[in-house]
Amino acid sequence: MQLIDGKAVAAQIKKEIAEEVGRIQALGGKIPHLAAVLVGHDGGSETYVAAKVKACEEVGFRSSLIRYESDVSEAELLACVASLNADADIDGFIVQLPLPPHINPDRIIEAIDYRKDVDGFHPVNVGRMSIGLPCFLSATPAGIVELLRRYRIPTAGKRCVVLGRSNIVGKPIASLLMQKAYPGDATVTVCHSRSEDISALCREADIIIAALGSPHFLKGDMVKEGVTVIDVGTTRVPDPERKSGFRLTGDVDFDSVAPKAAFITPVPGGVGPMTIVSLLRNTLLAGQKVVYP
Ligand code: GUN
Repeated sequence: MQLIDGKAVAAQIKKEIAEEVGRIQALGGKIPHLAAVLVGHDGGSETYVAAKVKACEEVGFRSSLIRYESDVSEAELLACVASLNADADIDGFIVQLPLPPHINPDRIIEAIDYRKDVDGFHPVNVGRMSIGLPCFLSATPAGIVELLRRYRIPTAGKRCVVLGRSNIVGKPIASLLMQKAYPGDATVTVCHSRSEDISALCREADIIIAALGSPHFLKGDMVKEGVTVIDVGTTRVPDPERKSGFRLTGDVDFDSVAPKAAFITPVPGGVGPMTIVSLLRNTLLAGQKVVYP
């Protein structure tokens, strides 16, 4: 069994991005500038956004954090998006999700200029991804693809089961794994809450991407020997022994699955650290106008 060390890969990619920023600086070019919009005080969102801002600092990007209270109106938030779209100094920006219930996230995402949508959530980026055109890939699918690539995990002709059909993980990673490219060319099955006999489907799989948000869902008796397992789950489970009061728990029962796996990601330290570097990479590409010249 080989552990897929997302933390180490992410650190390496951050180093590569920092070197690129150094080259841009030496040539007198524009330093990439990411803006993040945070609404309210959700604990998870606060943590994620702080980590994104810190990662920008680490690689030498500029970053701006724009905060609103949770009673901000949809109109105010749309005005903020419009001003970021128009601001030539901002190369890319994100609006952290979830948003309060009175705000329609689809309306906000669609208002973002797709050329600055470094989250890759805008329908233009999602659509372009699904037909294999240059686009901003969303952070988690991009992170998974990069891990498969860096560990040279074969995907062509392999049976791949994706657990979960979310718009931000399940659907895009299924789409990427079936496209005519590496890592792709896989035979992909997507399982969800209405799927029957998920265990039997998983036992046939060479690669399993678990993105359900259901702690320890995938057990050792549901996988075959030699499987590659990518665990996207990050559910906060109460843990009084931790200072934070919780621990992050994946969708995979690591102790029973790992002994049968050829490759497996841990939680934490697997996919999680990769998501932020995917965002950094998109911001670098946005600044260099590589995807949308
Ligand atoms: N909430 C959870 N993950 C994400 C993400 O990748 N981007 C944004 N904008 N919100 C999130």
